Amino acid sequence: MSPNSTHSDTLVFFGATGDLAYKKIFPALQAMVKRGTLDVPVIGVAKGGWNLDKLKERAKDSCEKHGGLDSAAFEKLSALLQYVDGDYNDAATFQTLCQKIGSAQRPAYYLAIPPAAFGIVVEGLSKTGRTRNARVIIEKPFGRDLQSARELNNILLQTFDEKRIFRIDHYLGKQPVHSMLFFRFANEMLEPFWNRSHIDSIQITMAEDFGVQGRGAFYEQVGTVRDVVQNHLFQVLANLAMEPPIRTDSESVRDEKVKVLKAMSPLDPKNLVRGQFRGYRQEPGVAADSKVETFAALKLHIDSWRWRGVPIYIRAGKCLPVTCTEILIRLRQPPTMYKRYNLESNYVRLRISPDIVMGFGMNVTSPVEESRSQLSELLASRHPYAKEMDAYERVLSDAMAGDATLFAREDYVEEAWRVVDPALKADTPVHEYEPKTWGPAEVEHLTPPGGWQDPVVNNSTA
Ligand code: BG6
Repeated sequence: MSPNSTHSDTLVFFGATGDLAYKKIFPALQAMVKRGTLDVPVIGVAKGGWNLDKLKERAKDSCEKHGGLDSAAFEKLSALLQYVDGDYNDAATFQTLCQKIGSAQRPAYYLAIPPAAFGIVVEGLSKTGRTRNARVIIEKPFGRDLQSARELNNILLQTFDEKRIFRIDHYLGKQPVHSMLFFRFANEMLEPFWNRSHIDSIQITMAEDFGVQGRGAFYEQVGTVRDVVQNHLFQVLANLAMEPPIRTDSESVRDEKVKVLKAMSPLDPKNLVRGQFRGYRQEPGVAADSKVETFAALKLHIDSWRWRGVPIYIRAGKCLPVTCTEILIRLRQPPTMYKRYNLESNYVRLRISPDIVMGFGMNVTSPVEESRSQLSELLASRHPYAKEMDAYERVLSDAMAGDATLFAREDYVEEAWRVVDPALKADTPVHEYEPKTWGPAEVEHLTPPGGWQDPVVNNSTA
């Protein structure tokens, strides 16, 4: 990689001693070095009482535990690492940081820290005067409702203009998520049926078979809707539902996504079922009477020419029977002379993880009994997930290169909050469910026509 006039020439990441850095950021940085997309100084900042050696040790351990150590790439990464230890409230921390940044002209500041600290760090940065050509990369959750998202945007916009703000939603960095646009718009055969005349319903399931994994205190602040629905699953929905962008530049793509959300009415509280797995309240950091949901099912509508009348169902949760994210698009029943066959609906199935699948469900006559129909799936693509570029590597590389396509724009984030806010504020009941089940019984009230399709995961392909 040869640095050019748009590429960031230093990466500063706040939260260097934290969990996200350990699980995602160091492995992504090692992968970037290996691929040749990172050869600029990387400065970790935290208030952990650490020194550079400790940071390097942690980075090594992180790469070993999360994806594997590549000795040659890690050695290069290690030589790029620097460390600043200090409190974010202390001006001295930012002075030391300025010294480390040295003559770099276009730093990228990555805030891998809790949202409560965003404001103070941005203020500290703006006082340094080292923000003129800088970018800021910011982790989700971006606010906790429309009002707090606006406040946060205002804080950022005082120092960085929108073009230099990169709001991470790592789901967009997943290959099967961003390649959904290619699948839709590179195939003429989909367009004639991709609309309300032929599609009966859309369902999106994001299931995880594990709990909150020690993140109870974080989870108490968010719950499932804020953690994965308002961001990850709305982005998936926007990719499914958007109109073809006029061009492929970031703003043409992001303009179309915002239009999808603008066409959505606010979520009606009666179209939200919240659940909590039995045992959540005993997790460290969780209140004994917590009302936070670890499962959510919701029904939405997009009031557009293409989608009016097509119900959209989303469900997501922790401690479900499998770990899998999958979309099922069910078509209408054909007006048929074959009623006695009890035909199934045709469908398109897109699996995002753990493996990648694009399948079409078709009725064919049974090879053993001609008077019976059988559903057969045509596979457009199926391959294991493990070989894909990691989502964090992709989004960090894109942010450093200044490509905003895979990041949430201000208007998009605000529209997403506008949709979920009323239902979140309605204080709907939270129903207990047993771990390893598909959520509370109350989810029956929100069942798509034809039922929920529970993903089956074949571990040999995962
Ligand atoms: C994160 C959520 O954004 O996404 C987690 O905070 C969730 O709760 C995770 O488990 C899922 O992402 P991935 O890439 O691990 O499937």
